[in-house]
Amino acid sequence: MRTMVVCFSLLALAGARAATLDVIPQPASYEMRPGSFRLQGGVSIVVPPGVPEALQVGTYLANAVAPPTGFRWRVVEGTRPSLRRGEIVLALSGRASANPEGYQLEVSERGVRIQAASAAGLFYGVQTLIQLLPPEIEAKRRQEAGWSIPCVRITDSPRFAWRGLMLDVSRHFFPKEFIKRYIDEMARYKMNVFHWHLTDDNGWRIEIKGLPQLTQTGAWRVPRLGKWGRREPARDGEAASEGGFYTQEDIREVIAYAKERFITVLPEVEMPGHALAALASYPELSCTGGPFHVDPGTDFYQKVDNSFCAGNERTFEFIDKVFTAVAALFPSQYVHIGGDECFKGFWKNCPKCQRRMADEHLNNAEELQSYFVRRAEKILESKGKRLIGWDEILEGGLAPNATVMSWRGMEGGIAAAKMKHQVIMSPTNFVYLDYYQGDPTLEPSTFGRLLLSTCYQFEPVPEGVEPQYILGGQGNLWTESVPNPRHAEYMTWPRSMALAEVLWSPKTTRNWDDFVRRVGAHFKRMDAAEVNYARTVYDVAMAPVLDAAGRLAVKMSTELSGSDIYYTLDGTNPDRFLQKYVGEPVAISGDAYVVKAVAYRDGRLSGRVLTLTVEELRARLKNK
Ligand code: ACM
Ligand code: ZN
Repeated sequence: MRTMVVCFSLLALAGARAATLDVIPQPASYEMRPGSFRLQGGVSIVVPPGVPEALQVGTYLANAVAPPTGFRWRVVEGTRPSLRRGEIVLALSGRASANPEGYQLEVSERGVRIQAASAAGLFYGVQTLIQLLPPEIEAKRRQEAGWSIPCVRITDSPRFAWRGLMLDVSRHFFPKEFIKRYIDEMARYKMNVFHWHLTDDNGWRIEIKGLPQLTQTGAWRVPRLGKWGRREPARDGEAASEGGFYTQEDIREVIAYAKERFITVLPEVEMPGHALAALASYPELSCTGGPFHVDPGTDFYQKVDNSFCAGNERTFEFIDKVFTAVAALFPSQYVHIGGDECFKGFWKNCPKCQRRMADEHLNNAEELQSYFVRRAEKILESKGKRLIGWDEILEGGLAPNATVMSWRGMEGGIAAAKMKHQVIMSPTNFVYLDYYQGDPTLEPSTFGRLLLSTCYQFEPVPEGVEPQYILGGQGNLWTESVPNPRHAEYMTWPRSMALAEVLWSPKTTRNWDDFVRRVGAHFKRMDAAEVNYARTVYDVAMAPVLDAAGRLAVKMSTELSGSDIYYTLDGTNPDRFLQKYVGEPVAISGDAYVVKAVAYRDGRLSGRVLTLTVEELRARLKNK
């Protein structure tokens, strides 16, 4: 009996030491220690005296733990040269980290100490601390759980200063309450820029006093449910009943909420293209004069004028008014002016635009766009702001101080960095969150493809580029195919966990297998928080190939190592007692009409059954 007890405690000790953390993004370095700190109602959070931001971080922690634990922790000001039992100490020290966002976290059986050079670092230390607690800590209501934190010492700091997510609120409007929830979710993963895509062809979402039509007309469109890009245009007299906008008060509220989470809100106001909602409001700012409807998701592009007239001075007066309001509202040093996918066809037939080109000695429409962006930059700079644009702003010559957000691959970013401009990498093939994350037959309709594993391979600093010009990276959620908040979350998580790790953790700690293990742990946290996410990483994938004899065959795979795949060719649902995939493509023999496959992990069903008809496989082979 005695020996048994010793054995168990040794095992427990060994287990504690060998345990790995379930923290995302992976901390730069950590060391597990034996034992744990048990949370109780009487804990005090000690914050440095006279630092409002630190007090606010302490309060954030107390508020985060209160609902699920029922603990009402006190937040007190003070300094503690040595830790007192039952205290969580947040301390500011220039020596804690060379990086302003870095922190050190030490959990002992007595208590917790977080040290950082700034309140942002304390906040990230608090986020890590919350992740060390059981998943139930994310619940909004009282839970029964063992509220203890494993003893550990963590030293951590981010690799990049720009860790962004963009949400398009034009294609579909998302209410203020959801924006705050999204910001909360970003903060959990130490992301620090919320890029708010506020205007586009399908809705203008920001109140600008003195330009009332933008929100009376531009924020509303006729309701449609069909596939985006194929929807019926507005009918005569049809009510524009779908949409919404943020009042300036709403925007201030969101900015303040984000600031408490150390997230900068970057506003985007699209120009010269993607401006149909603005032109529906003020058609005199277009080349053709309209009238226009806010687009409900039709295939209007290149048929309807959606670019501001670059030859009309009133366009620049309008932009000045909008930027005056934007600069006054948003503390961000940057304002994003869009600049992507500007259709220039109407400029070519517009006397005002042609006149402008002659007067300014501009050789082509790209140079006219650059003229436009340079003027936008001057207006912004006169209001103390700096310009960011999508990589198309390179095409007719880059504005003098512009920062480039590279989306059509990394090339625009590479070119800008070589010109010594700042760059944020946001390439479609690694970070476009609107793309399919699994097989299109299993997922809600969209386009493109971005697997979790691909996102995890994102490397923001290309070879041959000086890293100092790469501010960081950003994931973009365009919402043509995202009509509601639950689906916005589904498309964001877990791919943005991968992105968060790419942007925060040292490149050397990246480990796909361990990441996926941690993602599994975080799904439990998301369940507790009632946040939606996609489990597509557990599904199976099929790819049609031709075998040596030129016949159709199917390669099957999973994103996870250690999965087993089972399949059928007879139309029944596969399970682990049927045919196992052994790595060689499966030949489609005879008159088989459908292939079904499913993945198992550790002997348990992990994902959904993927069903592809032979006809579909042949079509995919042809389109490859
Ligand atoms: C973009 O995706 N058009 C920036
Ligand atoms: Zn024009």
